[in-house]
Amino acid sequence: MKQKIIAGNWKMNKTIYQSIEFIQDLKTYEFNENKRVIICPPYTSLYTLSVQVEGSCIKLGAQNMHHEEQGAYTGEISSLMLLGSNVEYAIVGHSERRQYFNETDEIINKKVLSALKHGLKPILCIGETLDQREQGKTADILKAQILSNLKDVPEEEILRIVIAYEPIWAIGTGKTATPEQADEGCKVVRDTIKNIYNNEIADNIYILYGGSVNVKNAKELFVMPNIDGGLVGGASLKASDFAKIINYEE
Ligand code: PGA
Repeated sequence: MKQKIIAGNWKMNKTIYQSIEFIQDLKTYEFNENKRVIICPPYTSLYTLSVQVEGSCIKLGAQNMHHEEQGAYTGEISSLMLLGSNVEYAIVGHSERRQYFNETDEIINKKVLSALKHGLKPILCIGETLDQREQGKTADILKAQILSNLKDVPEEEILRIVIAYEPIWAIGTGKTATPEQADEGCKVVRDTIKNIYNNEIADNIYILYGGSVNVKNAKELFVMPNIDGGLVGGASLKASDFAKIINYEE
């Protein structure tokens, strides 16, 4: 059976000590084998946490990365550096990166290709604005983002990518998409992948929902047929809440 992926995106939160405290707390909970748990802390906590999660089921992801391997890019971190910190995943194209740091679809595509080249698994975020939704453009926006962000990704690499459908109007707003809206968005993603690749890949690729997922709504979202788990922001900052989201069936 396909696992569920529950990933926590801490954004710009937690010092190293707070990160350690969180992981020690999270490790006291039991999660069954059909869950893949990923924590995406700030860069500063990654290495320390890689030691903390050793031997547990918790995997690590970065929140961003630069597409070049090294060089004069002050303030940036490359996929090679992330691998050196035992990081398995990297969030790419989060809407906050697109909005506040002017990341274009072209740059995001370069990041996806660089992550794959160096053996990192990208968690690619896509999603529409409220305006685009109200104009009935959601499906077109998602398709266009997938086509440009996944340009030149070969069939044998595509299943290493996790796609997170994150409607921008639902991120950090407390305004969750209804399970039907979230599932519909994930279905558009799945159908687009089917058209570009094939049925088998579309069935097997992981498509997460993100946007105000919390302890109360996790279950109704995660049981939907096209939703393979969640990318959780605010509600991933408290270990007890995040553990409840991971164990949403209980
Ligand atoms: P949120 O963030 O859960 O706080 O809405 C989700 C995200 O940005 O990935």
